[in-house]
Amino acid sequence: MTDAIPQLLSHDEAALDQAFATLEAQVRAEAATLTTAEAQENFRLHWLGRKQGRLKLISEAWLKSAPAEARKPLGIRFNQLKQQIEQALEVQAGAPKTAVAGIDITLPGLVREPGIEHPLLKAMHEIVAVFHNLGYSTNLGPQVETDFYNFEALNFPPNHPARDTQDTLLVADQQKKPSRDRLLMRTHTSPVQIRTMVAQAPPVRIVIPGKVHRNDAADATHSPIFHQVEGLCVDTNITFSDLKGTLDHAMKALFGSAVKTRFFPSFFPFTEPSADVQISCIFCGGKGCRKCKHSGWIELLGCGMVDPAVFAAVTSERRKTDPADDAYNPEKISGFAFGMGVERIAMIQHGISDIGHFYSGDMRFLEQFA
Ligand code: PHE
Repeated sequence: MTDAIPQLLSHDEAALDQAFATLEAQVRAEAATLTTAEAQENFRLHWLGRKQGRLKLISEAWLKSAPAEARKPLGIRFNQLKQQIEQALEVQAGAPKTAVAGIDITLPGLVREPGIEHPLLKAMHEIVAVFHNLGYSTNLGPQVETDFYNFEALNFPPNHPARDTQDTLLVADQQKKPSRDRLLMRTHTSPVQIRTMVAQAPPVRIVIPGKVHRNDAADATHSPIFHQVEGLCVDTNITFSDLKGTLDHAMKALFGSAVKTRFFPSFFPFTEPSADVQISCIFCGGKGCRKCKHSGWIELLGCGMVDPAVFAAVTSERRKTDPADDAYNPEKISGFAFGMGVERIAMIQHGISDIGHFYSGDMRFLEQFA
């Protein structure tokens, strides 16, 4: 390494360029020989050392004797030289060293585990696939929904007590808007029924998977955010027996062909008649056990025939763009809808007792589904 401080004979541009070209050539030549970590450190100290570094000594010597107008061009060139040295060090740091002290090549390598589908999404995809096989297609809608789609068009009038059954998370500062435009987190996937029918004339066969939100305290079976799969079928001559046959098939596809279904009366504002669907207990085969609270049956989903009031709300929306629209005239068409909780189905499928496992991110839980 050259240690003498070179002389700067003149301060004109040409002299400066030449002097710095010489320094740069030195840096390049030295940088090319840095094959060990030790050599690199010596190079760094030699050029950039804070007290005795060459860059510091040369710049002091040259700046001291320089006329005021030469300080700026000198400063610029010293900065460039410094950058060149730093770059040389970075390149070397990235290059393989001949000395591999500190790396034990006999240690096992890092294994990247292949990812798996989350058990909830897996269940959701399974449910959706059952309906795809029946000719349904998928629709999605927003999680931040308006009061109109989430409630009003589904026959929950403003201030009606039926709304109390779905503890709703409201978006703040909506009071100035008309009731139908106020934003909330959707409490179910049913608003997408309305969005679909407003956009598309019958026949309709859709499944709607997605996240829903309710102001529920978390416990072993509740979570403020959970998932549903909704279904909607509208066509001419759709009857309650179509609904029963479709859901009986779907439950057998999901839980095994030995499963039986039973329907009994229930209430939803947007279906009439409405039913809750139970399946025979998959743990005891219907004999009665702790899981089915000794009844032999497990309640799984809600369903019903689309209420004419829903078709009326859809029609008045559609008439905003086509005043003659009559596609959803309940004298001509009918339909059924159903909605199920994905967590609940996955918990029954796998015998999971706490809904919180799905959201914990605990690999010991998730790996079981690989
Ligand atoms: N949206 C209802 C709920 O979340 C379920 C449902 C959907 C019931 C479709 C009937 C028809 O409780």
